[in-house]
Amino acid sequence: MALAGTAGAAAAAAPVKVAAICGSLRQGSFNRGLVRSAIELSKGAVEGIQIEYIDIAPLPMLNTDLEKQGTFPPEIEAFRQKIREADSVLFASPEYNFSVSPAMKNALDWASRPPNMWGGKAAAIVSAGGTLGGGRGQFHLRHIGVFLDLHFINKPEFFLNAFQPPAKFNDDGDLIDEDAKNRLKQVLLSLKDFTLQLQAKS
Ligand SMILES: Cc1cc2nc3c(=O)[nH]c(=O)nc-3n(C[C@H](O)[C@H](O)[C@H](O)COP(=O)(O)O)c2cc1C
Repeated sequence: MALAGTAGAAAAAAPVKVAAICGSLRQGSFNRGLVRSAIELSKGAVEGIQIEYIDIAPLPMLNTDLEKQGTFPPEIEAFRQKIREADSVLFASPEYNFSVSPAMKNALDWASRPPNMWGGKAAAIVSAGGTLGGGRGQFHLRHIGVFLDLHFINKPEFFLNAFQPPAKFNDDGDLIDEDAKNRLKQVLLSLKDFTLQLQAKS
């Protein structure tokens, strides 16, 4: 009897699967550093969450000529499958000219092609960048998410000015700021709770 109860509890405690996407393709990207830090947190400080980094660099530029009767090029099929399998999404989204990066928009658009892979998923946005830490780009991402039927957590917000001393990242782009790590942890806890709330309602 005790064993059956334990098995039930274990099944209920399956980790929330999070797909993490970074809108910057550059090697030393601060935003990808945020993703690495989030993955590290998920292996210790934040229980019950499993984060997989999904690289969007291999995705070709969106061109609907590449779609053949509802099928997509292999890289796109693989990407769409990763999003489908995720319970929620963590966007690390640099701000380019007050908006999201072209790589990010390309990924959003590919997975939005019918059937929309984003629909009904919980999501959170974090960003590192200039003076406002990428905050204006975050608003554009929220706007795009309305039509994609993404459900973003509202709080806590996470913006990080990557250029204001003291250094927030090391030369490899790893997050080294303890306050930022703690704020990132709060985002992950909120994303986990919100994902479970949405799943309980559906
Ligand atoms: C094309 C382009 C446009 C940018 N526009 C903005 C901007 O509007 N606001 C801002 O704060 N930073 C802007 N930046 C700076 C980036 O946000 C900053 O370099 C950030 O660190 C990039 O993220 P990454 O480190 O993950 O690559 C821009 C950078 C590029 C390449």
